[in-house]
Amino acid sequence: MKIVIIGYGKMGHEIEKVARERGHSVVLTIDENNTGDLAPENLNQADTAIEFSTPETAADNILFCLEAGIPVVAGTTGWTHKMEEIKRSCIHHDGTFFYASNYSIGVNIFFYLNRKLAALMERYAQYDVHIREAHHIHKKDSPSGTAITLAEDIIGKLSRKSSWINGHPLERAQLPIFSIREGEIPGIHRVIYESEEDTLELFHSAKSRRGFALGAVMAAEFIQGKKGCFGMNDLLGLED
Ligand SMILES: NC(=O)c1ccc[n+]([C@@H]2O[C@H](COP(=O)([O-])OP(=O)(O)OC[C@H]3O[C@@H](n4cnc5c(N)ncnc54)[C@H](O)[C@@H]3O)[C@@H](O)[C@H]2O)c1
Repeated sequence: MKIVIIGYGKMGHEIEKVARERGHSVVLTIDENNTGDLAPENLNQADTAIEFSTPETAADNILFCLEAGIPVVAGTTGWTHKMEEIKRSCIHHDGTFFYASNYSIGVNIFFYLNRKLAALMERYAQYDVHIREAHHIHKKDSPSGTAITLAEDIIGKLSRKSSWINGHPLERAQLPIFSIREGEIPGIHRVIYESEEDTLELFHSAKSRRGFALGAVMAAEFIQGKKGCFGMNDLLGLED
């Protein structure tokens, strides 16, 4: 597979390494210094684009790829208010789009357990729930896309929570997400249920960025020859 990497920062470099190990070639890298190379004639040399740039630039880059007719795997977080526009563009151009707020296989198993636990907790109103996440100091968005996915999945299953808030809640129906930016932490997420009697916690800690890069390259392999919008549940076969 020939890959264009859009966003050649920490993740872009890791993706290049993993892609080469898996026998793929990286035909072009786009970073803030050569955005002019993001042109249809360059994209057309590749089978897939993998986008890990910034919250400000991701949506335009993804739209550009879809308009150019190249399948795109997107990993940048902090732009998903534009998701519906991207999905419409994907359908309009009969294109291929894959998005995950977190490409780690372990985290997606964690997402699955989170949904199951929230559904179970619907019956046990004595438990209140909050989310804690910690990342390296360079991370630009807060809360993390992963924490937002966890929160939205809980809200979808637990009727006593109707929205999330980054910080202390103003009312009981709000699900608080507490974010820490410290050192070089690749990513820690905890979902914590607390009652007067006990604490029950789901915990995930990434050891490096490699797991994210591997998941993104596996997603690029998965979408070859497919049309439509996909996510990690499609790749891993995890039901809701
Ligand atoms: N989905 C996941 O599993 C996952 C995992 C890790 C990181 N992320 C997200 O991926 C994104 C990138 O993370 P990172 O750690 O590599 O950040 P980074 O800051 O190291 O890299 C971002 C790169 O994007 C480049 N860039 C800026 N403007 C651009 C443009 N217009 N076009 C192309 N590139 C441009 C920057 O020069 C920089 O090199 C962040 O949003 C982060 O939260 C997602």
